[in-house]
This record gives sequence, structure tokens and C-alpha cells, in this order.
Amino acid sequence: MTFQLNTPIVVVAPDYAHLCERVADQISAQMQARPNAVLGLATGSTPLGVYEILVQRYQNGELDFSGVTCFNLDEYYPMLPESPHSYQAFMQEHLFRHINCRRWLVPDGQAGSPAQVAQSCREYETQIKDAGGIDLQLLGIGRTGHIGFNEPGSPPDSRSRLVSLAPQTREDAAEAFGGFDAVPQQAVSMGVGTILEAREIILMASGAAKAEIVRGAWSGEVTGRVPASWVRTHPNAALYLDQDAASRLEETPQE
Ligand code: PGA
Repeated sequence: MTFQLNTPIVVVAPDYAHLCERVADQISAQMQARPNAVLGLATGSTPLGVYEILVQRYQNGELDFSGVTCFNLDEYYPMLPESPHSYQAFMQEHLFRHINCRRWLVPDGQAGSPAQVAQSCREYETQIKDAGGIDLQLLGIGRTGHIGFNEPGSPPDSRSRLVSLAPQTREDAAEAFGGFDAVPQQAVSMGVGTILEAREIILMASGAAKAEIVRGAWSGEVTGRVPASWVRTHPNAALYLDQDAASRLEETPQE
């Protein structure tokens, strides 16, 4: 396979607080340009500071989410939405209960049989399409190189589907679940292809624990072994890092 490799922008902020400001500025600009923007959102610890800033800006009257639609990347499976471990609960707690967004969707983690899960994934794809597609997709990166829960081996044209979580991903979630065995083995995730259809992508990473995988995703080959590397084929993608996450990149343009 050959791919057009673009040269996405790399922004290196001095620390996590500045990183979150920069990303929140991009999201705010998108919302100001398009009051009906469609945002793709991520869970995990990385975007938490961004959500805090967006909430503050809403509370200060600087942002209005009433026309905005949000689609989240993924949800554990099986998972009840009311469980404190669900990504539905995470988004409610950290963002949506504080703002005036009327339409936000998270993949269904309780769809039932494999056929029902496949059906609900098709519906999720249709809902994204019917909303006009995603204007701006925010991504984190897992230590396996996953985006969403697209673990190594996920093809670039994959769509929303049931996926298996890599052992390292389950280890990274073990503390939150009170032990490795309590972490679900599966999840429902937007596909790499779904993500790459967003009109703009921001991949954000913070901290030294991400430095090695950021280097692998951004300076190695574009490969299914590191799903985040597919982002480099996107015409409008940017990598936002703090200095620790950027520390293994060979050339790191500064702010
Ligand atoms: P984290 O997760 O933000 O908690 O590091 C990122 C991810 O797994 O995509």
C-alpha cells in the first residue's frame, strides 16, 4: 500500500497547562467559526485539562454549545452507561453536566449480541454521517499506539466495531477498575477510517510515559502496528505535545 504522507504540524507546549490552553483555543476557534460544529471527543486523563478550560469558557459566557454535536470515540464493552467506569459517565462528569450541549453521543457498550453490537455500530456511523461528518476530532494516544481503542493491527479503513483491548491498555486501566481482571476485555470503538474522515484532527499527548510511542507514531513508518501513525496520512492533522511527551522526537519545533 502506498500513502500520501503529509507533514502534520507539531506544536510543543512547555507544560500540560499550556498544552491544554492551546488545544482548547483550537476547539473554541472551531466553535466560533461554526456554531453548529460537530466535535469528536476523547476520554482518558490527557484531555481532562482541555475540558476544564472549555467548561470555564462556557461559564464565562465565551462559548455556547447549544448547536454543537459531540461524538465520542469509544466505550468499554460490556458496560452499562450508568456505571461509574463507563465513558458515558466520564463525559457526563467532566464535561456535559457543566455545559449546554444538547446532543452528545457515546458508542453503545450494552448492545447485546455480536449482531446487535454490529447494528449499533452501523447506526453510530450513520449518525456521524447524518450530522455532516466530524469537523474536529480530538485524540489521545495509548501506550500501544492506539487511537480510540484501535489497537495494533487495526486497518486504516476500519469502521466502528467491537474490538479487543491489548493487555497493556488493560494494565493502564487497571487502577481505575480496581485490578487488571476487572477491566473489560473488549470495547466498541470508532474505526481508524472513521477517525480519518474527520476534517481536522488534533492528537494530544502529555508526559514522559508517552514519549516513546509519540516517537514511534510520528517518526517511524506509517504502519498498522502503530495505529496513531495513520494520522500522518491526514491532510489537516496536528500533534500537540508537552515537552515531556516530545522529548524523544528528533526535531521538536518550539512554541
Ligand atoms: P490517557 O489515555 O489520556 O489516559 O493517557 C489515552 C488513550 O488511551 O488514548
